[in-house]
Amino acid sequence: MGKRYRIAVIGAGDMGGNHVRGWVAAGHHVISVTDVDQPRAEQLAKRYNVPHVYADYREALEDATVDIVSVCLPLKFHASVTIDAAAKGKHVFCEKPLASSFVDAQNMEEAVKRAGVQFGIGFQRNLAKGVTTIKQWAEEGKFGHPLVFSSDLMQEVRPKIAMHDKNGNKGPFVDACCHYFYMWNTVFQSKPQRLYARGGIFGKDRPEIAHFNELAVDTGVVIVEYESGDIATMSVSWGLAKNTRMKSRPDRIFGPSGGAEGAFNEFGSEVHIDLFSGDGKETIVIEKEDLFERQLRLFADVITEGRPAPIGFAEGNELLALSFAVLESIETGKIIELHSKTGGGGSQ
Ligand SMILES: NC(=O)c1ccc[n+]([C@@H]2O[C@H](COP(=O)([O-])OP(=O)(O)OC[C@H]3O[C@@H](n4cnc5c(N)ncnc54)[C@H](O)[C@@H]3O)[C@@H](O)[C@H]2O)c1
Repeated sequence: MGKRYRIAVIGAGDMGGNHVRGWVAAGHHVISVTDVDQPRAEQLAKRYNVPHVYADYREALEDATVDIVSVCLPLKFHASVTIDAAAKGKHVFCEKPLASSFVDAQNMEEAVKRAGVQFGIGFQRNLAKGVTTIKQWAEEGKFGHPLVFSSDLMQEVRPKIAMHDKNGNKGPFVDACCHYFYMWNTVFQSKPQRLYARGGIFGKDRPEIAHFNELAVDTGVVIVEYESGDIATMSVSWGLAKNTRMKSRPDRIFGPSGGAEGAFNEFGSEVHIDLFSGDGKETIVIEKEDLFERQLRLFADVITEGRPAPIGFAEGNELLALSFAVLESIETGKIIELHSKTGGGGSQ
């Protein structure tokens, strides 16, 4: 292994836990955990023998021995923490999505460039062997051309209600669909050209989210056309009935010669993928893998070797553009043309 880096993890929620575990498993030293919820931070620190716990991330940044800051906070804090960490000369690994707006994203990028540090974004799901396998099958022509990719994301109002705040995590099209958009881009090896989406807010009468000033769109359908001629579509809801037993369908990809079905970018469990060819069907099983460990190991290697992170501002901005374009299409009823330049689609 290369250099053993010293890490400050900011945010001790679900992703904070995954990052601490991932950094430790990759052989690095987590120096501190920060969370406004002190007991939560303390519990996580205790589990992994992390020596320092803070309530304010600026305290964590004061530690001159910290090399890398892992940002595992709600979306609205990604920009400020990244900018402050970079100004202290720390490399930053930030959870997806990149930022709340293109302006925030630009300020983050400028701060990172000014400081000469590295910046990476957490899209561990795209490292899943399921995604690599489908990409390879598509390349080998197993499905023919053009391709249709269909994804699905269904659940009731999130218990993590902050996800429904239009001014916070911005709902599923920003918070969650970016994983699917990135998977489509990867498998098609092409750029999205235009999209059309319709949707609304199924959870608008739910009392647990009634206190938000503005609710995010929680439900919709989007269709994206790619430069390659391929098409992707996604049905989404975070507003289904309470305690619903309805679950997301697996992903499907198909073309004139064949298709495949399975939860291609699933992490944290074994995955079964069915490959359909002519009248044949074959099932492959992909074992569970710790994708957090892998992505953090890759980021540490990038720093050691002085090359750019595989997923940085260019990809983060492209995915943000897709998310914002979906919201714009839902709001205006228009087809949105996407440009390959940063921030080319959507206007937020
Ligand atoms: N890569 C993935 O698969 C994946 C999955 C889920 C979430 N995420 C992303 O990770 C980020 C965090 O999501 P999460 O699910 O861990 O959320 P979470 O709610 O579980 O955890 C967030 C933590 O941040 C703390 N916090 C909030 N404001 C703070 C502040 N100003 N200073 C310090 N602590 C603060 C909260 O107390 C909470 O413990 C989001 O951007 C989300 O979109 C990524």
